[in-house]
Amino acid sequence: MRSGMDMVSIIRKKKAGGALAREEIEYVVRGATEKTLPDYQLSAWLMAVCWRGMDARETTDLTLAMAHSGETVDLSELGGVCVDKHSTGGVGDTTTLILTPLVAACGAPVAKMSGHALGHTGGTLDKLESIPGMGIELGQQAFIAQVRRIGCALVGQTDALAPADKTLYALRDVTGTVESLPLIASSIVSKKLASGAGAIVLDVKTGNGAMMQTEAESIELARRMVDIGRIAGKPMVAVITGMDEPLGSHVGNALEVKEAIDVLAGRVEGPLLEVSLILGALMLVAAGKAPDTATARAKLTEALRCGAGLQKLRQMIQAQGGDPRVADDPSLLPQAVHRVPVPTLRAGYVARMDTVAIGYAAQSLGAGRVTKDDVIDPAVGLVMQVRIGDRVEAGQPLAVLYANDTEHVAEALEAVQRAIVIEDTQVEPPRLIRALVTAEGIIKQE
Ligand code: URA
Ligand code: CA
Repeated sequence: MRSGMDMVSIIRKKKAGGALAREEIEYVVRGATEKTLPDYQLSAWLMAVCWRGMDARETTDLTLAMAHSGETVDLSELGGVCVDKHSTGGVGDTTTLILTPLVAACGAPVAKMSGHALGHTGGTLDKLESIPGMGIELGQQAFIAQVRRIGCALVGQTDALAPADKTLYALRDVTGTVESLPLIASSIVSKKLASGAGAIVLDVKTGNGAMMQTEAESIELARRMVDIGRIAGKPMVAVITGMDEPLGSHVGNALEVKEAIDVLAGRVEGPLLEVSLILGALMLVAAGKAPDTATARAKLTEALRCGAGLQKLRQMIQAQGGDPRVADDPSLLPQAVHRVPVPTLRAGYVARMDTVAIGYAAQSLGAGRVTKDDVIDPAVGLVMQVRIGDRVEAGQPLAVLYANDTEHVAEALEAVQRAIVIEDTQVEPPRLIRALVTAEGIIKQE
């Protein structure tokens, strides 16, 4: 049957720089979902989009078509606005583990689906799985029922969600077409929309540990995503945050769970807490639980102080079959046998870090997958002892490696030593919050 549309014409139109009609975009997405279009045509189309780009309307059409390409989660029976957050990914970034219970403790339901680790970045799902007994696969009914009962749930994203993105992402990965703003923006937002988000707070990382390394590129990605929200009628706001060094000090699965617990228990402050409070405040405002971010921040701070956030984490762990005692005793999490300090080779000031290399060092100890069939060791990783701008004396530890076998320790130790650059003059710590991107515009933070 002729549909009146053909893929060669669509590829040619985009190759020539034309804007594709909604029907044409839907045709491509259907072909990717039902696998009726061959990989070579989809790949050629992706390359044309890479070169020619897409305007905001096309990007929104692509996002909505991908969001509806498979199962969608309907959270409407929870009532109100279910707010979601998404981070473009970094190292030592465990804000989701903190915010899911903390925001729920402040009265906004959080029904969150997360993914496994990608590249050098950690995955919330892998972190959760380090909690003994914790289940990450709930059916849709059980997922919604848990949110109704205790206010939050944190589970894995099912394969049935946005299958078109799965097909296109796999092709992008092997055809050099990952780096395209409309393709990245539509890929991220389609999955959020499919998982039922009523409003979305985005944490777009910037710096050498981020997908987008410059501030200008990160702001542009944020602007593209917020634009999709504006056109699609979904409230969205993005914060641009620094990723020039790990956000928290802990890198690794159980280690990051421990740090999240420490933050919720009020034992740890610093950049991880600060970014969590900024994102959490925007989430509460988006959910209509606070009139402004100052009021929202005060609520979050109070929920930390009185232990309501930690209590919500206990409840969530228990509801998902995990051992809630970890919230009070993180030593019940898997523990590594070896702790190996990484001494600095010289005295001076921490000038900069290769954040990707630090992520990969943790991965090489077993904290992440090098091939997709690798099994993660939940206990291993590293704990940073310094931040950019700190003074170090010769021999002082830059980080401590947590390992279960000694095979990769020497290699990881050298990688961390190389990744942390020490110089004679002190530098200012990098700014954490760079800009806020809303439907109304961009507010730079100086
Ligand atoms: N994360 C996604 O989900 N999609 C992209 O294209 C890039 C990062
Ligand atoms: Ca993450």
